[in-house]
Amino acid sequence: MLDFSLTDEQISAAEMVREFAEKEVYPTIGEYDRKQEMNPAVLPRMGELGILGINIPVRYGGQGFDYVTLGLVCEELERVDSTLRVVMSVHMGLNSMGLLQWGTEEQKHHFLAPQARGEKIAAFGLTEPGAGSDVAALRSTARRDGDDYIINGEKMWISLATKADHILWFAKTDPDAEPAHKSITAFMVEADMPGVTSGDIHGKLGVRAGSTGWVNCKDVRVPAFNRIGHEGEGFKIAMSCLDNGRYTVGSGATGLIRASLEASIKYAQERETFGEPIAQHQLIQQKLAYMQQWYDAARLLYLRAGWMKNEGIRNTRETSVAKWYATDMSFQAAHEAVQVHGAYGYSDEYDVERFLRNSRGAIIYEGTSEIHQLMQAGYALGWRRDKPLRCELPAYDPEYWQAEA
Ligand code: CAA
Repeated sequence: MLDFSLTDEQISAAEMVREFAEKEVYPTIGEYDRKQEMNPAVLPRMGELGILGINIPVRYGGQGFDYVTLGLVCEELERVDSTLRVVMSVHMGLNSMGLLQWGTEEQKHHFLAPQARGEKIAAFGLTEPGAGSDVAALRSTARRDGDDYIINGEKMWISLATKADHILWFAKTDPDAEPAHKSITAFMVEADMPGVTSGDIHGKLGVRAGSTGWVNCKDVRVPAFNRIGHEGEGFKIAMSCLDNGRYTVGSGATGLIRASLEASIKYAQERETFGEPIAQHQLIQQKLAYMQQWYDAARLLYLRAGWMKNEGIRNTRETSVAKWYATDMSFQAAHEAVQVHGAYGYSDEYDVERFLRNSRGAIIYEGTSEIHQLMQAGYALGWRRDKPLRCELPAYDPEYWQAEA
């Protein structure tokens, strides 16, 4: 049976998030974008409203919604501003869902529950100055010392770098391991541990009202309790976290396509040239038609991936294609929206200028479009096959998700 309907709960969660984004964030987004600062009210409000734990089981401090709801929420957030969705990508997709998949029961109560309640903010420390697409080239190290590990290294382009309390940090415990990806182990580094420093990066093309920065560890002593998964499992943990982060990026980019379409429809009906609204011109209609097509296809792709997560079916390929398609098309949609707006679209008087800048980063982070093309080709050629993991992302079970304990 194929069912495209959404439940009342999914619809009301999306409506709640839309209202928050429109009423509480939209009015000042231009101001924070120009200041290159994050609105300080955003993270506390997202915590209060339960958005930071939307799809985490109630027993771990979350709201107990399913993975499809997470996609709908990301779509609504990025329809208003990309910076809001980026929060969900790192806090939820790349960190909290990684804990849900790989953490022990004690780690879920210790790290995940405060994250889901919004009391602790989470980030993802994978990328380094010399290692982006080539994850196994990372140089951070973790040396065992009694009951602790000593971590050294530098992370770069980290969303929420200066806001996060918990950073899922990937380091080499066995730098000589072959193949290289088996050298990596995951740790939860806490921002207040001695030796952890961080800073913001300014001058970005987009997501200027978001927080992006660097984090360094200098002889940071991390208890073995903070190791997530086994030694040598870090690459797989990072990749499985990316299966969830990419889902939030793809669903969010779908919201950005919708925002570009909505803004273009409004402007095309108001603006007149040659004695009639520009919506009457067929070349403008063509742009709107394409944006509608991109939106529908992007939405179907992420809903398929969300459904697979709910069912507990591995979705690395489906999530990758959803992320790749939606981010490429959100850039294209924002570009067309600027064109519909003419010279006004080139100024920050209209939102589409910000949409164009904000859409660009997602074509680079969480796997460049080129990485996704290589993955899709690998699957098509039969060279790439997903292997079962020691810990899979749990399928959505409403009874378990909504039970207190
Ligand atoms: N989940 C779990 N395990 C996985 C996996 C997945 N999705 N994908 C691969 N693996 C496993 C494989 O099964 C394999 O396991 P075995 O050792 O048992 O054989 C192992 O990992 C190695 O897999 P591959 O051979 O496929 O790995 P690869 O070296 O060919 O790399 C790649 C594949 C697709 C290029 C990968 O390195 C990649 O996705 N790179 C992009 C990294 C990326 O997205 N970085 C973004 C950083 S985070 C960010 O941007 C967030 C922010 O804050 C802005």
